[in-house]
Amino acid sequence: MMSRFVGRVVAVTGAAQGIGAAISCRFAAEGAHVVMLDRQTIPDDFLPEPAAKYKVDVTDHAAVNAAIEAIHRQFGRIDVWVNNAGIYTSAPFTEMRMEDWQRALNVNLTGAMVCMQAVAPFMVAQRYGRIINVASLAGVIGFPNSAAYCATKAGVIGLTRAAAIDLGPYGVTVNAVCPGTLLTEMGYKVDELICKQNGWEPGTFLKLRAQELPVRRLGTPEDVAGVVAFLASEDASWLTGQALVLDGGQFPF
Ligand SMILES: NC(=O)c1ccc[n+]([C@@H]2O[C@H](COP(=O)([O-])OP(=O)(O)OC[C@H]3O[C@@H](n4cnc5c(N)ncnc54)[C@H](O)[C@@H]3O)[C@@H](O)[C@H]2O)c1
Repeated sequence: MMSRFVGRVVAVTGAAQGIGAAISCRFAAEGAHVVMLDRQTIPDDFLPEPAAKYKVDVTDHAAVNAAIEAIHRQFGRIDVWVNNAGIYTSAPFTEMRMEDWQRALNVNLTGAMVCMQAVAPFMVAQRYGRIINVASLAGVIGFPNSAAYCATKAGVIGLTRAAAIDLGPYGVTVNAVCPGTLLTEMGYKVDELICKQNGWEPGTFLKLRAQELPVRRLGTPEDVAGVVAFLASEDASWLTGQALVLDGGQFPF
């Protein structure tokens, strides 16, 4: 394992499980002070002994602002911010309830914007920053019964591109990762929904998806964490405004 982030302060939203937890572990393993944020309580014995943890819902703008100020007070800087908190909602297009649409928008898109707007001034002042947004393959191509999810993730990609232009002159890069289907709780939830819709045994969708991928396996949270760490590293300092698709070759653009 490399040690690219010794002394760096890295904050990750949605860090209590899945991809966010794997990203937190990866940065900690590479020497960073990791700050984990989630709307759920992050257990005390949770590896990797985070430098700090905050119970914050990204839809609570005052709480986000307070947490970011507190992180900056504690560490004196914030080098990397990963917007990973997200929810998946599914409904046939004509049955999508506006409250579900709004909730997806609030968490997936507005949540990322609020965090970026709060953290950017600190990064601009220190003339260094890396913002990484966890979007989705669903932000690049359409998926059935996923209008809210696809629209919000496409929005995250647009936000990434625009922010990269505005923040680039200050040494702040902004990129997105767009994972395909992964083996996480969200991945199992998608499987459950699709299998139910098709009358399949649970697990069938994930099995079929793995078989059709060129690499013949589904992604893991660690696959995403490795790419996020690369985007935060010095090797990626000239890479900004990009939405990197990592999907085992599902959709070769
Ligand atoms: N799992 C996949 O197949 C997949 C594929 C592509 C993209 N993604 C994206 O990756 C990210 C993480 O997904 P995951 O699979 O680890 O999901 P997950 O459901 O396992 O974990 C999401 C975490 O985000 C937290 N969270 C949700 N809403 C929040 C809020 N309002 N404020 C703060 N925290 C909140 C949850 O408590 C949870 O700990 C999401 O943005 C998701 O859309 C997942």
